Amino acid sequence: MTKDNQHDPLMNQINGENQFPYRYEGLEKAASEVLAKEAFDYIQSGAGAEETLRNNRQALENTRVIPRMLQNVGQIDLTVRLFGKDYANPVFLAPIGMQKLANPQAELATVRAAKKHQVPMIVSTASTFSLEEIKEAAPDHPLWFQLYWSDKNPDVSLNMARRAEQAGYEAIVVTVDTVMLGWRERDLDNQFSPLKAGYGIANYKNDEVFMSKLEKKDDKSIVEGIVENFFHPTLNWKHIEKLKKATGLPILVKGLLHAEDARFAIEHGVDGIIVSNHGGRQLDGVIGSAEALPEIVREVKGEIPVLFDSGVRRGVDVVKALALGADAVLIGRPFMYGLALDGEQGVSQVLEHFLADLTVSIGLAGASDVRSAKELETK
Ligand code: FNR
Repeated sequence: MTKDNQHDPLMNQINGENQFPYRYEGLEKAASEVLAKEAFDYIQSGAGAEETLRNNRQALENTRVIPRMLQNVGQIDLTVRLFGKDYANPVFLAPIGMQKLANPQAELATVRAAKKHQVPMIVSTASTFSLEEIKEAAPDHPLWFQLYWSDKNPDVSLNMARRAEQAGYEAIVVTVDTVMLGWRERDLDNQFSPLKAGYGIANYKNDEVFMSKLEKKDDKSIVEGIVENFFHPTLNWKHIEKLKKATGLPILVKGLLHAEDARFAIEHGVDGIIVSNHGGRQLDGVIGSAEALPEIVREVKGEIPVLFDSGVRRGVDVVKALALGADAVLIGRPFMYGLALDGEQGVSQVLEHFLADLTVSIGLAGASDVRSAKELETK
């Protein structure tokens, strides 16, 4: 998206009207006041002692941009080209399951706001609405589908990938850091599992292969079936090869932190990598995602796109990730808080602020597009 930057985006925001929190901390606090305790804890918390949640922020805070001056940033072009397609922004909505936790309109509200701001969205396997319903709510908006591999019934996974392709999704993101669910102590204290509570059943209920394997078709049996199919401790590179053969879409793996795994991904025909530690929700004590990024970028050498998430809160975090070599960046919790606060309008406010902040940040760093942001130096 090209923006005429003659008017300062910050000046446009000061109009005496806006009561929606600008600060991430304010957004989080406001969401904590409207959400049920167990829902807020589920969204906000990390696994274990939440070391990784902190490491994500520390890694970004320890990365400092060395800005360039006198670069003519009168026009900012945020377009990014991935897998032969232009995306208007280098910011994607991370796959987040069970969005009904935050608002009854869930992913339908999110996708409408995403479309308004031309922010591509990655739809989770565990979404509240089905991948087809979400596509229908914003037919010409770019969507990717995030797949949780099913150990028990690989055919269900292959069928979901097929459905996504048929519905017009543009890529499949296989999340690989969830072979088991992270040890999430706050959810344990609250005795809360949105999966068991049935918040994420739509893609399974709509899947003829999954349903054909169930003896009873009531919601209770569906949830039991999902719990059996959700985790995938035997997942390995052979499964990725199998998936690759079953779909014509580009395949990304989400959740890599080691450079050698990035090399294996390339060797097994993966089309893109998402460097991520699942927002600190899986193994606690792992390195901050931004610490892992430079080595993976060095290993990949531009052969395939490298995306990044975990801990991105402000526009400058995107600039930092681009400067460390990411091609695009995902955000998770920020938009979920917007959804909790005011549904579609709330997500829209978060994205409006985030993109304005990004425009200011990239311009002040002396970059006018994603390519020049990637050339920025950091310390
Ligand atoms: C997630 N994440 C996630 N990832 C995924 O691949 N499939 C999913 O269904 C979910 N669900 C989910 C729910 C909630 C409540 C959160 C907070 C996160 C992880 C997500 O895609 C992303 O990696 C992190 O959210 C990024 O970190 P930040 O931006 O939230 O710090």
